[in-house]
Amino acid sequence: MSTLLQILLLFSLLCSIASATELPVPLNDEVLSLIVFKSSITDPNAALATWTESDATPCSWTHVECDAATSRVVRLSLDSLGLSGELPRGLDRLTSLHSLSLSHNNLSGPVPAGLSLLPDLHSLDLSYNYFSGILPEDIPLMPSLRYLDLSFNSFSGPLPGSFPSSLRFLMLSGNRFSGPLPSTLSQCSFLLHINVSNNQLSGSPDFSNGFWSLTRLRVIDLSGNQFSGVLAEGMSNLRSLKVLNLSRNRFYGSVPAGLGLCPHLSAVDLSYNALDGSLPDSFRYLTSLLSLSVSNNRLSGQIPDWIGNMSALQTLDLSNNKFTGNLPSSLSGLKDLSYLSLSNNLLSGVIPDSVSQCTRLSELYLRGNSFNGTIPQALFNLGLELLDLSSNGLTGTMPPGSAHIAETLRWLDLSNNDITGTIPAEMALYYNLKYVNLSWNGLKSQLPPELGLFKNLTVLDLRSSELYGAIPGELCDSSSLAVLQLDGNSLSGPIPEEIGNCSALYLLSLAHNSLTGPVPASISDLKRLEILRLEYNNLTGEIPQQLGTLQNLLAVNISNNRLVGRLPTGSIFQTLDQSAIEGNLGICSPLVSEPCKMNVPKPLVLDPNAYPHGNGNDLVTYGSRPGIPKRHNFLSVSAIIAISAALVIILGVMVITLLNISARRRISLLDNALESMCSSSTRSSSPGVGKMVIFGQKNSLRSEDFVDGAESLMNKATELGQGVFGTVYKASIAQDRFVAVKKLFTANIIPYHDDFDREVRILGKARHPNLMPLKGYYWTPQMQLLMSDYAPYGSLHARLHENGDKMPGLTWPERFKVALGTAKGLAHLHQSFKPPIIHYNIKPSNILLDENCN
Ligand SMILES: *[C@@H]1O[C@H](CO)[C@@H](O)[C@H](O)[C@H]1NC(C)=O
Ligand SMILES: *[C@@H]1O[C@H](CO)[C@@H](O)[C@H](O)[C@H]1NC(C)=O
Ligand SMILES: *[C@@H]1O[C@H](CO)[C@@H](O)[C@H](O)[C@H]1NC(C)=O
Ligand SMILES: *[C@@H]1O[C@H](CO)[C@@H](O)[C@H](O)[C@H]1NC(C)=O
Ligand SMILES: *[C@@H]1O[C@H](CO)[C@@H](O)[C@H](O)[C@H]1NC(C)=O
Ligand SMILES: *[C@@H]1O[C@H](CO)[C@@H](O)[C@H](O)[C@H]1NC(C)=O
Ligand SMILES: *[C@@H]1O[C@H](CO)[C@@H](O)[C@H](O)[C@H]1NC(C)=O
Ligand SMILES: *[C@@H]1O[C@H](CO)[C@@H](O)[C@H](O)[C@H]1NC(C)=O
Ligand SMILES: *[C@@H]1O[C@H](CO)[C@@H](O)[C@H](O)[C@H]1NC(C)=O
Ligand SMILES: *[C@@H]1O[C@H](CO)[C@@H](O)[C@H](O)[C@H]1NC(C)=O
Repeated sequence: MSTLLQILLLFSLLCSIASATELPVPLNDEVLSLIVFKSSITDPNAALATWTESDATPCSWTHVECDAATSRVVRLSLDSLGLSGELPRGLDRLTSLHSLSLSHNNLSGPVPAGLSLLPDLHSLDLSYNYFSGILPEDIPLMPSLRYLDLSFNSFSGPLPGSFPSSLRFLMLSGNRFSGPLPSTLSQCSFLLHINVSNNQLSGSPDFSNGFWSLTRLRVIDLSGNQFSGVLAEGMSNLRSLKVLNLSRNRFYGSVPAGLGLCPHLSAVDLSYNALDGSLPDSFRYLTSLLSLSVSNNRLSGQIPDWIGNMSALQTLDLSNNKFTGNLPSSLSGLKDLSYLSLSNNLLSGVIPDSVSQCTRLSELYLRGNSFNGTIPQALFNLGLELLDLSSNGLTGTMPPGSAHIAETLRWLDLSNNDITGTIPAEMALYYNLKYVNLSWNGLKSQLPPELGLFKNLTVLDLRSSELYGAIPGELCDSSSLAVLQLDGNSLSGPIPEEIGNCSALYLLSLAHNSLTGPVPASISDLKRLEILRLEYNNLTGEIPQQLGTLQNLLAVNISNNRLVGRLPTGSIFQTLDQSAIEGNLGICSPLVSEPCKMNVPKPLVLDPNAYPHGNGNDLVTYGSRPGIPKRHNFLSVSAIIAISAALVIILGVMVITLLNISARRRISLLDNALESMCSSSTRSSSPGVGKMVIFGQKNSLRSEDFVDGAESLMNKATELGQGVFGTVYKASIAQDRFVAVKKLFTANIIPYHDDFDREVRILGKARHPNLMPLKGYYWTPQMQLLMSDYAPYGSLHARLHENGDKMPGLTWPERFKVALGTAKGLAHLHQSFKPPIIHYNIKPSNILLDENCN
């Protein structure tokens, strides 16, 4: 609705008021007032469609109620209509309004002043909206207000200095009011109900002269504020008080004994304060009390015998205090008790059978006390839904239970006791069990396969319970299992393949057992898995690569097993901390110092002597052409050697073993090589065009030397000889300028240029006066060339054995120079690289000499 219309309507409203004195039939104020209201707000569901300004009165409109005699609007009920926008002024024209209710809408902004102009307004309900700002100043002046509900808005600031003395119900909860309660509240002597819960109110209410004097009060809810101070005595004249909730404040001192004299109390909640002392004896008279909570205080003393006289109790929460002593047997008097929490006190002794006589009990929490003795059998005959006896000193076995509890029990926590013996077979019938925690006991039993029968089981925690034997695969018949923790037992045998059936699992923790065998690949079916802990077992083999598909993994620990091989490439495996993978037999990771072992038939040892190799002269092989190894499993290894060896030729050394070099990179290289060997398909992602790369600035090679392309260069080259991995050519790049070119036999060893480039560049960095540098390479998926300077003076082998008459034989000083130069070259490879490049096959044919025997 446009503001223009709003202004027009307001204008006509004012005119009608101005003219009212003159005209015999006044225009209806209320129609205009409501039309202004309608025009100010958004009404998405057209709930106010019947509101039309042409009507004489609004009495026929929906949500509007008129007084039959006067035809004046007395009630406006616009709850839950999805209205939004801000309240306009002008509602004060509805002068006979009794009740205005706008709750559960989306109305926002401040509440306009003027409500005090409505002499008959009894009830104002603005709850569950987005109203904000401070309350209008004229609220205290509203002459007839009895019911004020502003709950669940965003009002802030201090409360008004007073409230109308006619007020009966004051509901302000769930706002952001701050500051103290007005001291004038005691003047609202009709007050029945005050609920200011969940604000930021503070200060120390004057109970004696305030609340305790409002004798009609039935409900006091000050919970969830920052009130402090002592709860004064003197409430004994609150004969009507039914509910007192002072929870979650900062009250201290003792519990006022006078409360016991409020005969109609049905709920007392003093939890989350700092009260001390003991429960006042007068509470024994609270025979109508249904609910008593004093949890999270500092109360002490014994749980009194008379507790059994509060016979109406349904909820009793004394948890998180300092109560001592035994449980009174009078508890058996609480026949309606359904919720009993005594957790985290200093209670001791046995759990009396009398608890089992609270036949309606459905939730029982005794966690964190010092109860000893056995679990009363009878407890398992009740219709309990939740039983938490954890962290006590209970002994004996688990009671077998009854048909009754089998139907009801959802939550069973007996953890951290000394319970022994097996999980009773009857438990298989507990079909509603969702949570079972028997951890930190001494069960000394096997894992019953029946656990899989709990169809609704989501959490099974049996850590450190002295379990032995195998993990039954049936466990995962219960497909709702989300948390499975079996750490710290003596479980043996393999992790069952059926673990993959636990499809809802997000935490799987089997650490600190004696499990053997492989990590099952079916774990990769656990798509929701976030935490996988397998440390300290005897698991063997490789981690299945499929685990890399687990996208939700946040934490994995496989340390201290007997695992080998590479980590899966996906998921978080490549970023695992060292502490998560150490202590295995040979995980391949740059982070662990242990050797990398692969479960492949041949270990990754780059020993050229291990393979067919001609006469071992790789630069120039006379005699039979050495074969390329045929077997796939070591083709992959030889692929590495091909690179290494080819480079070494050019460096003037023979074969290099690159130990400890960044394992990951190397492994993926190996992978790629293996793949390309095993399948003839070429990757389409490889660029088809050749790429010439020349290393360094000051290089005798220039890219202009290859204007005609590497192919034409190779056409003119003369073969010098063949090695294991390629043929060496002498190629002319210009007049009197030659390069040595090694053309790798095995085209497509490395299908990706990036991988090839990275590998070759590492070795291209080897620069030393005694090393023949790698000058560059040429790469296409089909042809790979490595280039270095041509050494015209041949090798040491040639000088020693094939010299003929061309050159004089080597003198001893020359031989020494050759030895020293060789040693310096090797030292550079060993010491200047991290990881070091290890020379593998130094021999005369790989030592090239210049004319000065360098
Ligand atoms: C209130 O507004 C929100 C969006 O601001 C909307 O999602 C919600 O449905 C509205 N509530 C009502 C009762 O109309
Ligand atoms: C006080 O108001 C809150 C919010 O409406 C409500 O949840 C609570 O039950 C009320 N307290 C009492 C004692 O009625
Ligand atoms: C008392 O108030 C707190 C916080 O508002 C609430 O959680 C609790 O349920 C209330 N107690 C009773 C008995 O209503
Ligand atoms: C409970 O009340 C009955 C009678 O009202 C009384 O005989 C009994 O002694 C009381 N028990 C305790 C433990 O105070
Ligand atoms: C339980 O502990 C108490 C000491 O707190 C001891 O006197 C009693 O013998 C114990 N009972 C059993 C069954 O261990
Ligand atoms: C099982 O109980 C132990 C000891 O009370 C506790 O630390 C652990 O968090 C519980 N396990 C689960 C899954 O709640
Ligand atoms: C437990 O599972 C059954 C089906 O196996 C289902 O009908 C029942 O609602 C579940 N109970 C709970 C408490 O989820
Ligand atoms: C459980 O896993 C086993 C082996 O992994 C499989 O044969 C079986 O069909 C699975 N059962 C269910 C119910 O998925
Ligand atoms: C693993 O196996 C070895 C030998 O088989 C054994 O000595 C060791 O105790 C086992 N470790 C665990 C945690 O079971
Ligand atoms: C893996 O488990 C070991 C042994 O419990 C522990 O020392 C290490 O901190 C864990 N690492 C990670 C990353 O969880």
